Amino acid sequence: MFTQTIHRDKISNRMGPPRTISTLVIILTAMTICVVSGWSVLTPRCLPPGRILRGIATGSAAAVAIVGAGAAAVVAIDGMAKDVDGRRAVAAIYEPPSGSMDDRVVLVTGGSSGLGLETVKRLAAAGATVVLTSRTEAKGRRAVEVANDHLLRRGKLPTRGAIHNIVLDLDDLSDVMLVPSRYEALGLNRDISVLVNNAGVMAIPRREVTVDGNERTFQSNHLGHFVLTSALFPYLSREGARIVTVSSSASYFAGPDGLDLDNINGERSYGAWPSYSSSKLANVLFTRELQRRADEAGLDWLAAATLHPGVVDTDLWRYVVGEERLARMKDGRDRLGSLALGATRLFAKTPEEGASTQVYLAATSDAVVKGAFYEEMSVKADLPWFAKDDAKAKALWDASEELGRVRFDLTAAAATVGGAVADVDFSADESSDASLVEDNDEDLE
Ligand SMILES: NC(=O)c1ccc[n+]([C@@H]2O[C@H](COP(=O)([O-])OP(=O)(O)OC[C@H]3O[C@@H](n4cnc5c(N)ncnc54)[C@H](OP(=O)(O)O)[C@@H]3O)[C@@H](O)[C@H]2O)c1
Repeated sequence: MFTQTIHRDKISNRMGPPRTISTLVIILTAMTICVVSGWSVLTPRCLPPGRILRGIATGSAAAVAIVGAGAAAVVAIDGMAKDVDGRRAVAAIYEPPSGSMDDRVVLVTGGSSGLGLETVKRLAAAGATVVLTSRTEAKGRRAVEVANDHLLRRGKLPTRGAIHNIVLDLDDLSDVMLVPSRYEALGLNRDISVLVNNAGVMAIPRREVTVDGNERTFQSNHLGHFVLTSALFPYLSREGARIVTVSSSASYFAGPDGLDLDNINGERSYGAWPSYSSSKLANVLFTRELQRRADEAGLDWLAAATLHPGVVDTDLWRYVVGEERLARMKDGRDRLGSLALGATRLFAKTPEEGASTQVYLAATSDAVVKGAFYEEMSVKADLPWFAKDDAKAKALWDASEELGRVRFDLTAAAATVGGAVADVDFSADESSDASLVEDNDEDLE
């Protein structure tokens, strides 16, 4: 049970540079980028003086615009940050006490990088047995190595648990349905205490469709996790389990009418950012409806919560600019990109800081507010109305069952881990997708 241990959770703060310096650096970087880009785009090689002047003028105009936006962003960031002795505390780092997660199994999706990998490290350091998912076996094995090295270097090898990896591709629902058998195959013989639905993609420039015929952002961020949660539900510990789904403040911008179920797959119109916002709003509504159904069914052992981690310096931008360009931005071959990345890093959280809210929700001995949206390890009360739209949350659930070809039954019997699986047919045959409901299944209604 999560409430049995009372301990003092460790929270520390990283100090940012003094606010005036960070403001100046951001503004100067933005100005340089704009003047240089205006110059290089509009004045290539031997051009007449008129073009040169136009290049400088355009670059400078863009610089003024960005300076305005940069200054507004700095004010907003400073507003969110706490002042400590005149310096800016960027964010708190939450670290569960060593041993506080002993005997618990946590499954983290997208555990091979960014926030997921950081979550794996911190929960393992607290004693949890962690199962991370990755899209390929090689990435998973590498992540386990990286996490173990990290723990070794910090003298924080798990007291009881260990780190394992299993393959999961959320963009292929038949693969998602194999996760229970892959979990069983690890031979842990234990229920899952925390499921962290963390994996995600962001702002894919052009509409892409998965093998299941769904828009990729929607499936990776919401639908795949819906089907996964349903498949793993019988494996959750009835002694106390949490489902933590990583959303984003991007969900606030899905409006003005909230989730558009008629365009959930971007079939009418597709935009990179609208599709991301909509998928992150789906994370919030899913959490709400999941908790509502659990409460209605009297499942008081379950707490579901969702969160915004903050703006975090991870590789999530690779979906926007491409893996190859991001690599060039990181190693300095793309000079403008490197400058922009450097400026962003001044105010973005480190993965260590960014993972704090999800680590907190997975590990804290405090009671988690059921169905709530968290930010900075606290419940965020002032959500837009469409993030609390219960009718839409229910409609999304129905649509997800249909598109996911699965019936998510919260009252299904618990699986007997390590033995026969009661009342649930999760075939261990990797080639089978028998537990997916057929498209034309009349019972689906
Ligand atoms: N970074 C931020 O500022 C920020 C802000 C708000 C919310 N978030 C949310 O935080 C979560 C983690 O993102 P991150 O910032 O840590 O980025 P990240 O480093 O890019 O991590 C994303 C993870 O998701 C995995 N993934 C993507 N598509 C998948 C699929 N179809 N099946 C299985 N796994 C898949 C990736 O695996 P591969 O390596 O194989 O691609 C990767 O491990 C996301 O849900 C994101 O929306 C991030």
